Amino acid sequence: MCPNAMIKSFPAHTKGLPMLYLLDSANLQEIETAYSFFPMAGVTTNPTLIAKEKRDFFALLRDIRACIGETAMLHAQVLGDSAEEMLQDAYALQEKIGGNVYIKVPVTAQGYRAMKLLKQKGFQLTATAIFTPAQALLAATCGADYTAPYVNRIDTISGNGVSVVATIAQLFEQNAVATKILAASFKNVQQIHEVTLAGSQAVTLPADLLWKLSEHPLTESGVQGFKKDWQTLYGTGKCVHNL
Ligand code: E4P
Repeated sequence: MCPNAMIKSFPAHTKGLPMLYLLDSANLQEIETAYSFFPMAGVTTNPTLIAKEKRDFFALLRDIRACIGETAMLHAQVLGDSAEEMLQDAYALQEKIGGNVYIKVPVTAQGYRAMKLLKQKGFQLTATAIFTPAQALLAATCGADYTAPYVNRIDTISGNGVSVVATIAQLFEQNAVATKILAASFKNVQQIHEVTLAGSQAVTLPADLLWKLSEHPLTESGVQGFKKDWQTLYGTGKCVHNL
């Protein structure tokens, strides 16, 4: 879908609200750095990202919580196979991490059932591993606060991740659901740019893509050029504060 077509279908409920940027990482150093440079809304983890850190699970999540603060969103995934086990996982996550926790539940059959039950108990939910608009809408009806379509994994199997996000946005608008799209699984900046145009209210990015999103070589050379010209008059090493 061309970007302009997507702009026309931009969902009304996202107008005026700033994009939420989350870091898709369980690495403390990446999280600290991202938080020191950008206005991050939170952190998403998944079992693969956690396993990479080779640490005690709850100690790692508590360290992430301490780093990002109590009010930032921290999304952590259940591992149970049955809805009952997922509920137990959710209670353990909420109790042992604390703060603004979102329970990530995969959209398996047991996952939908778990989301329905968890919503009744007041949990904040992120439906994850979404590959189709139908899965996202069903998760929204189960009470998911966020739905996470896996953009690059869809592209990888000859699908169109951006188009899936655009359709989810359209369905959420038509059904007037408050559920938000937290687009996930990115391998390049263009995918991120296009899902934001398609109506995603939030994106979760690996650290390298967060930096790539922020940069352009002409920005760096432009700044250097300004400084060089300015200092030919005011002197090398001079800035505004030390004139
Ligand atoms: C989202 O919740 C997942 O953690 C993640 O974005 C998946 O990304 P990947 O496809 O790069 O593993």
